[in-house]
Amino acid sequence: MKTIFSGIQPSGSITLGNYIGALKQFVELQNEYDCYFCVVNQHAITVPQDRLELRKNTRSLAALYLAVGIDPDRATLFIQSEVPAHTKAGWMLQCTAYIGELERMTQFKDKSSGKEAVSAGLLTYPPLMAADILLYGTDVVPVGEDQKQHLELTRDLAERFNKKYNDILTVPEVRIAKEGARIMSLAEPTKKMSKSDPNQKAFITMLDEPKTIEKKIKSAVTDSEGIVKYDKENKPGISNLLTIYSVLKNIPISELEVKYEGSNYGTFKADLADIVKEELAPIQKRYHELMDSEELDDILDHGAQKANERANKMLTKMENAMGLSRKRK
Ligand code: AQP
Repeated sequence: MKTIFSGIQPSGSITLGNYIGALKQFVELQNEYDCYFCVVNQHAITVPQDRLELRKNTRSLAALYLAVGIDPDRATLFIQSEVPAHTKAGWMLQCTAYIGELERMTQFKDKSSGKEAVSAGLLTYPPLMAADILLYGTDVVPVGEDQKQHLELTRDLAERFNKKYNDILTVPEVRIAKEGARIMSLAEPTKKMSKSDPNQKAFITMLDEPKTIEKKIKSAVTDSEGIVKYDKENKPGISNLLTIYSVLKNIPISELEVKYEGSNYGTFKADLADIVKEELAPIQKRYHELMDSEELDDILDHGAQKANERANKMLTKMENAMGLSRKRK
């Protein structure tokens, strides 16, 4: 069975973008692959985090993975910092990467631009991400479009390591959803929807109340034309809303354009708000049950144990390949 690895940062409340671009696909994938799903809390600390918020968001994200339908009997769910092999292999891959290629990462440029104090980790986290993936002999990595460049770097690092030391790392394939790979901000639809956006109106979180969902969709930026039509260049706002509707209801955008011909944005937005609320209601219910249970912690303990076993095997191979292991006399 082929292996999948994917991670999400607990750097805020998970958005509809994270759900559509990542989480939603995972549920289908767990039937066909040996899946490792990780709450990458060590990635989150590349930018400042409040310690109590981070702790809360970490457990909350784990609960969300399960609430959307990840089955712990089929997939391994764990927290990155509970598997020390990640940082150890991450260091080896940092020493395999070049500063120039890390400085070229668009996410680094975006997140560091205009900031005075930028952590070194923000620059060097892509090799840690590569370690997350490569430790599991991952064949496929399902991500949103924004992570494509980091995945290309992961492939380069794996190839470089194999060539320089020993041919032990699997070079993974990237899997990007055909639709919904890049859900845009509701406030600035030419920008990606991000959980760390300071503007609360820019995103819908998986835990938003129904009234909040209605308000956010109602105030989503569109255009003055008033025609429900997909045109990413000229009508990014309504195109983004059409994409969300299409992915959640599995209806082609062309059919939605016909359905809403002659309707105004208000009608379309009201329907979309109902769809988002319907999608999120059962997830939120299960989420709250899990958050109040010990079941969640038991699942995470078991996940960490399984992940440690698997990751340590590859870590030993990597250490041997690099000469970091000691041979007894
Ligand atoms: N807007 C998006 N549309 C589709 N997919 C998205 N993803 C993120 N935003 C969108 C996908 O979600 C997964 C987890 O992402 P992450 O938390 O590891 O980091 P990120 O890509 O940086 O996500 P955010 O929400 O923008 O986080 P912050 O604000 O903390 O940087 C990935 O598969 C990602 O592609």
